[in-house]
Amino acid sequence: MPEQSADALFAPFNLGPITLANRIVMAPLTRNRATHGTDVPHELNATYYSQRATAGLLIAEATQISPTGKGYAWTPGIYSPEQVAGWRLVTTAVHAKGGKIFLQLWHVGRFSHPALQPGGQLPVAPSAIAPVDQKTFLEDGTFAPVGTPRALERSEIAGIVDDYRTATRNALDAGFDGVEIHAANGYLVDQFLRDGANKRTDDYGGSVANRLRFAQEVIAAVSEIAGPERTGIRISPVSPASGLSDSDPSAVFFPLVDAIDAAGLVYVHVIEGATGGPRDVAPFDYHALRKRFRGAWLVNNGYTRETAIDAIASGYADLVAFGKPFIANPDLVERLRRNAPLNALDTEHLFGGGAQGYTDYPALESAAR
Ligand SMILES: Cc1cc2nc3c(=O)[nH]c(=O)nc-3n(C[C@H](O)[C@H](O)[C@H](O)COP(=O)(O)O)c2cc1C
Repeated sequence: MPEQSADALFAPFNLGPITLANRIVMAPLTRNRATHGTDVPHELNATYYSQRATAGLLIAEATQISPTGKGYAWTPGIYSPEQVAGWRLVTTAVHAKGGKIFLQLWHVGRFSHPALQPGGQLPVAPSAIAPVDQKTFLEDGTFAPVGTPRALERSEIAGIVDDYRTATRNALDAGFDGVEIHAANGYLVDQFLRDGANKRTDDYGGSVANRLRFAQEVIAAVSEIAGPERTGIRISPVSPASGLSDSDPSAVFFPLVDAIDAAGLVYVHVIEGATGGPRDVAPFDYHALRKRFRGAWLVNNGYTRETAIDAIASGYADLVAFGKPFIANPDLVERLRRNAPLNALDTEHLFGGGAQGYTDYPALESAAR
């Protein structure tokens, strides 16, 4: 790869009103390290994100918009004043280092457990259909199967859309530069999109247009508050993540991206293939999808220095998100710039716990810079 095209990865990029220092994005990564009992972010989380602030853009981990949006122990929220104050520690620390940070807005839908829900109620979803063979983990540290959710009444849906609105306002209050709608990986927005999880007979189910309705309402609500120029969205057209299935992803995702384009969102973030797994799990024409969107195109899943440079230099993508490499390498940008070796991932300490496997990954020796 000629060095000239390598430069493309390190060139600044104007993402709406924000200038990113480079094309390298930290993917949203759930680490289950919020304060137990309150789901409030704290100083250690601020340290973790600020260590990674040389990314052009950080996308903070999936964060529940409401108590019912929660599906795993110790994930952070963005609905209480304490959570907003906790996130402000994070955004302040990242901004102090010149970084930019969006928050990923999350409602897990059916992917939860009564023990994680307010009042021990059943998780809610488009339809009362359990995902196949899925487990989550609870506050007592045990794993539990994800069971059958309760189908949302039609009259409840507007309240959830309103929770997205409030969460967006809270995220901006907390100092985030923008927000990312989590429409990927088999959670609530994705559940509405797919015929494997959405069997509704009202105007939120059935036809593709009906299955798109919830996503479009969330897009409208979030961008009404943040402005479309500070609103991105993440999708995973063929990913079987969280036990989700669909008979024809192209039939859903081409019109969805058309709707995202019409709404003028600032970026589409696409997970190509199975999230964290094979990129070729199912055929899908990502290049054709890209052509349907006039905003920034952010790609993810298994990218390396070489494939990232190629994606940017070829003009296919504007930005590349790295997940696991950013967990293990706080200075990933510098390592990619120098083509330096990467730290190995500590898979024992991904979810929950403290500093170990979180803020203790070494940067390159400063003497070698
Ligand atoms: C520990 C871990 C946590 C993750 N949490 C999230 C999340 O909160 N939101 C999300 O959209 N994807 C999440 N993902 C998926 C990653 O963002 C990313 O799509 C995946 O790791 C593939 O990218 P990579 O090959 O660069 O790691 C997570 C992945 C891992 C390994």
